[in-house]
Amino acid sequence: MKLDEIKTVGVLGGGIMGGGIAQVCAIAGYTVVVRDISDEAIEATRQAVFEGKWGIKRAVEIGKLKFDDAVAAMARVSMTTDLAGLAGCDIVIEAIPEKLDLKQAVFKELDQVVKPGAIFASNTSGFVIEEIARDVSPSRKKLFIGMHFSNPVTTMKMCEVIYTPETSQETVDATAGLAERIGKVVSMVKDAPGTYGFLLNRIFGAARREAVAIVEAGIATKEDVDKAMITGRNWPAGFFGARGGIGKEW
Ligand SMILES: NC(=O)c1ccc[n+]([C@@H]2O[C@H](COP(=O)([O-])OP(=O)(O)OC[C@H]3O[C@@H](n4cnc5c(N)ncnc54)[C@H](O)[C@@H]3O)[C@@H](O)[C@H]2O)c1
Repeated sequence: MKLDEIKTVGVLGGGIMGGGIAQVCAIAGYTVVVRDISDEAIEATRQAVFEGKWGIKRAVEIGKLKFDDAVAAMARVSMTTDLAGLAGCDIVIEAIPEKLDLKQAVFKELDQVVKPGAIFASNTSGFVIEEIARDVSPSRKKLFIGMHFSNPVTTMKMCEVIYTPETSQETVDATAGLAERIGKVVSMVKDAPGTYGFLLNRIFGAARREAVAIVEAGIATKEDVDKAMITGRNWPAGFFGARGGIGKEW
């Protein structure tokens, strides 16, 4: 699958991340099919994407999106509980709960349903991509990749693209290209068996562990740690709940 051949994006799981991924893809001009497991979940996705805090309607209200573009974007999104609804997608981006066995089982099923040649991407927060891909057919492994977005997807620009030893260069190029076309900034990451968290979450986790160690050793309070990170590194928030920025204390 080449970048210019991608027209329809499937999103598996319409929760916090899936809804945001669907929204940015639709706004960028892609036809989007979201699949979730119940009518209630689909309704929640519809609410979030169209009317939520980060949704399309609000983007129009705050002047980030023109009304006509919003209407066109909304018309490009369809939602279903039927896995077969993803059959014709050129890429499927998975955003179901962070459970390895669930992801493995769902990708195995998806492999039987979605057309050959379609890319499979996981938005896992950190599982090894090769392990998520364990049960797909050998021909799909070269099309398997990680695509890790940050929450909220509509405003956070980061997208880690994680490649395994089996991911083809064509898949890497198409996926990174898609991320850029939907407004993201790509960091390339090599899949690393035995680790969790790719780049962002590993570095953040290490910093957080150090912050906790400092507090536990009585070197500084939680408040003082947060204050230092917000005012010394311009972080929008600290590790322990404090937030910086306009109208805030720091
Ligand atoms: N929330 C974050 O900040 C964040 C950031 C980056 C990555 N992630 C990762 O993204 C993934 C999704 O996280 P989330 O926060 O959006 O979760 P969420 O719980 O908000 O959404 C998950 C959705 O998947 C649906 N689902 C469950 N099983 C399914 C199936 N078999 N087929 C289709 N849909 C199914 C659920 O009904 C739900 O709507 C996880 O792997 C998570 O680690 C989350």
